[in-house]
Amino acid sequence: MKKTVLITGTSSGIGKATALEFHRKGWNVIATMRSPEKESELTNLENALVVALDVQNQESIDNAIEEGIKKFGKIDAIVNNAGYTVFGPFELTTDDQISRIFDTNLYGPMRVLRSILPLFREQKSGVIINVTSAGGRVTYPITSIYHATKFALEGFTETLAYELIPFGIQTKIVEPGSTATKFVGSAEITTGDNPIYDEFIHNGLKNWEKHDTLTSSPETIADKIFTAATDNNYVLRYPVGEDTEFYLAIRQSIDDQSYVDFMRNRFIPEYLNN
Ligand SMILES: NC(=O)c1ccc[n+]([C@@H]2O[C@H](COP(=O)([O-])OP(=O)(O)OC[C@H]3O[C@@H](n4cnc5c(N)ncnc54)[C@H](OP(=O)(O)O)[C@@H]3O)[C@@H](O)[C@H]2O)c1
Repeated sequence: MKKTVLITGTSSGIGKATALEFHRKGWNVIATMRSPEKESELTNLENALVVALDVQNQESIDNAIEEGIKKFGKIDAIVNNAGYTVFGPFELTTDDQISRIFDTNLYGPMRVLRSILPLFREQKSGVIINVTSAGGRVTYPITSIYHATKFALEGFTETLAYELIPFGIQTKIVEPGSTATKFVGSAEITTGDNPIYDEFIHNGLKNWEKHDTLTSSPETIADKIFTAATDNNYVLRYPVGEDTEFYLAIRQSIDDQSYVDFMRNRFIPEYLNN
């Protein structure tokens, strides 16, 4: 029997590439997005169901799962991909911005899982893939709130990877690095207007551009997500992208303070006295 995946945030980028990858590999795809009326490519695929799902809205999640099961009979894997970033210093971030990004990047996957877990438990199988980020393991300046959401999603998912084993449910984390999508262009900018951080942001961006050269394609990430969904094991983490591998290798090869010093020298050398 053909397997079925439900993916969130398939209107663009990694989510769309993942929907196309699973479809190409012969899966049924429940491609969910906030505005399905704008989609044309996935809508025309056989064995794909494009359906509305806003991860901030439990009813839309329950409905998408119901529609998917009505059409394909079963769901075998869930990819929690929808997410975005807030860019700017913490002090200039509003409560509303913080609430909304947590509501999407962390509470969103939690809502999806609350809805699908009874089904996975009942069928004694299922694969959960939460898309975090290299930024769920290491941090860069000026994106503290995004990191807070992805670190939280990592910790949450790691715990599930213990808790769901008795039910035969595989829990996985895919950690992309910089990926060529509309992610950076769609970043929400912190809204406080204190210019005290302007120079810091300017220098941070300059250093980021200098070092952020190892960008992956969304198809590379989709390929890793497909592997995680089909390798039939309990491996938890799937780092992907040359930059992710670079930072994780350094993080794991030196002590904690040496690592922090390395990152400071890389991203904020202007503010160090050495
Ligand atoms: N690109 C990178 O460099 C990078 C690196 C590490 C991790 N990631 C992670 O990869 C995932 C996908 O990002 P991407 O790079 O593919 O960016 P993207 O092209 O901007 O795609 C983000 C997707 O999330 C959707 N989304 C946002 N809020 C949503 C909500 N409330 N409900 C449902 N969908 C929502 C967007 O839908 P709309 O079209 O409706 O806005 C879009 O489909 C994110 O979790 C991101 O954190 C990306």
